[in-house]
Amino acid sequence: MAQRPTPNNKERVLNEHDFIVSKTDTKGIIKYGNQIFIEMSGYSESELIGANHNIIRHPDMPRCIFKFLWDTLAAKQEVFAFVKNLSKDGSYYWVFANITPSFDSNGAVVGYFSVRRKPKSASIKVITELYARLLAEEQRVEAGQASRRKEAMAASVALLTEFLHSKKLSYEEYILSL
Ligand SMILES: Cc1cc2nc3c(=O)[nH]c(=O)nc-3n(C[C@H](O)[C@H](O)[C@H](O)COP(=O)(O)O)c2cc1C
Repeated sequence: MAQRPTPNNKERVLNEHDFIVSKTDTKGIIKYGNQIFIEMSGYSESELIGANHNIIRHPDMPRCIFKFLWDTLAAKQEVFAFVKNLSKDGSYYWVFANITPSFDSNGAVVGYFSVRRKPKSASIKVITELYARLLAEEQRVEAGQASRRKEAMAASVALLTEFLHSKKLSYEEYILSL
């Protein structure tokens, strides 16, 4: 894709009663986005349709969260996640996302559907700290070498697993408790 926007630390806030909706194919290529998605992302509809959903990936997001997301979807289950997104102008916006697989009449997954709303600010505070720890672990292990990405991912998954273990909660229980 074209060059990524440079994050500028300006926040966009989703309105209390608004929902961002998007649909993708099985690879995460955007097939549909509602008007709020278009507005919050800062991209036009034609820029979004056909793009990989990582078009709004923010560099503050740890990779292990997306790994967990895709592993859960691959198991045909829905997933909840707090996601910091990057708009076209470099600003960011937080969402609380629910992503579900869509099935055809034979039960095969034909794509994914996501609805997001504004998270509570108390949840964002907690998640920001957790994600910063996970990202730091990924960066520590990767140490600037793309060849170490797998190890970096394993290390942050281990850190997340340990964190959830200490809380005696599953990932979903923890996320829904925030
Ligand atoms: C339906 C659906 C919605 C998604 N929504 C987002 C999103 O809002 N922000 C985001 O960064 N990734 C989202 N993803 C995950 C992206 O596909 C991608 O895995 C992620 O941005 C990490 O990109 P990368 O693997 O290129 O680093 C979504 C995936 C699906 C299937």
